[in-house]
Amino acid sequence: MNQFDLWGERMRVDPLPTLALMRAEAPIVRLFNPHQGAPEWRVTRYVDVVELLRDPRFSKDKRKLSDQARSRYFRVTEFDRLDNHMLYADPPQHTRLRALVSKAFTPRRIAQLRPSVVEATTRLLDQAQRQDSVDLLDALAFQLPITVLAELIGVPVEDQERFREWTRILIAPPSDGDFDALRRMAIEFQQYLEEFLVLRRRRPRDDLTSALIEAETHGDRLSSVELMSMVFLLIAAGFETTGNLIGNGVWALLRHPAELRRLRATPALIEPAIEEVLRYCPPVKNSTGAFALTDVEFRGTLIPAEELVVASLLSAHHDDTQFPEPERFDITRSPNRHMGFGLGLHFCLGASLARLEATVAIGTLVQRFPGLQFAADPETLRWKDGVFVHGLDCLPVTWEAR
Ligand code: HEM
Repeated sequence: MNQFDLWGERMRVDPLPTLALMRAEAPIVRLFNPHQGAPEWRVTRYVDVVELLRDPRFSKDKRKLSDQARSRYFRVTEFDRLDNHMLYADPPQHTRLRALVSKAFTPRRIAQLRPSVVEATTRLLDQAQRQDSVDLLDALAFQLPITVLAELIGVPVEDQERFREWTRILIAPPSDGDFDALRRMAIEFQQYLEEFLVLRRRRPRDDLTSALIEAETHGDRLSSVELMSMVFLLIAAGFETTGNLIGNGVWALLRHPAELRRLRATPALIEPAIEEVLRYCPPVKNSTGAFALTDVEFRGTLIPAEELVVASLLSAHHDDTQFPEPERFDITRSPNRHMGFGLGLHFCLGASLARLEATVAIGTLVQRFPGLQFAADPETLRWKDGVFVHGLDCLPVTWEAR
């Protein structure tokens, strides 16, 4: 029996009280994940999370696990070919992959996307405005990142809908675990990516995929499997996360009307406001897990070899030893050393793209619709029960145009 119920209905209504209790009573704790059928450690205090994310004794590379441990934590092996990317690699392989990818994923390429982000936001809001109320997640928050990612990667417009479906399910699998459906989808998606990459090798374009194919350091390039995994990682890491940053941001602002008024009065506050959303309700609530390579004594607690350790970013962001009055949503909070994009070696590669999309989307929305409000009782909204991402099931809103 678990000391804390991280997988129950209470977490979907409001996860913060349970996390506060964990920080107070058992900040480094071993629980049993009922969906995974395996033990996992949770680290919830800010200082411990910082240490954990920088600790080289924990590995992201599942190939270093014994067969027994691997099968305990990874039940869907059809993902294996998509997993040859840097998020699941340790140095020196991580260093090598990140260097190659950074050659293609440049600040210039991201800056070039701004006009498309503005254009897509305007188009989506024009469409949404034709209705009295919409689910903002469907109408804007998830549409924008998939459109931008498709352009960045070079995916044809007609495939975007399929892309969206695949990513939603593959990156945030339903916790009731229909593993057969998941396996089928992973296979379909891989086939699609393989065909797409063959096409791009034959006919390069001015897109990130072509740049990744070309990227070279010291005579070294990405292999086909690494390339496919990298494209998958960009989609997986950049879609649901950015969608939830937009959704969580609008939710937080509507729940705090005084902060929303401050933002409307001073539009330049959008940048610190996005940082506060990343702290207050981070779109990635848990880091991806890492494994103890040997028995590890971590801040006074023994973590046995091959057990999974997860850092709760959401909890760390509500730790009052780091953030005074953490439950206060303050769009000018300073300092604001959140870890919404992670920390250390695996710090998010797409942070500037995510910030660009969220500032344009939320900034435009709140200025364009002064009457923006919830179209449902906010107390009835629920958080999804995904493992990593933190976002609402739906976000019904309504507006009056200026
Ligand atoms: C609001 C949106 C986003 C959030 C909150 C976010 C958050 C994160 C976090 C917390 C990590 C570290 C994970 C860990 O240590 O377990 C990470 C890694 C990563 N993110 Fe993001 N991300 C976002 C958007 C994006 C976008 C748009 C892209 C690219 C298109 C992207 C690409 C990546 C990649 C490639 C990594 C792995 C980096 C490495 O292993 O060195 N992310 N992200």
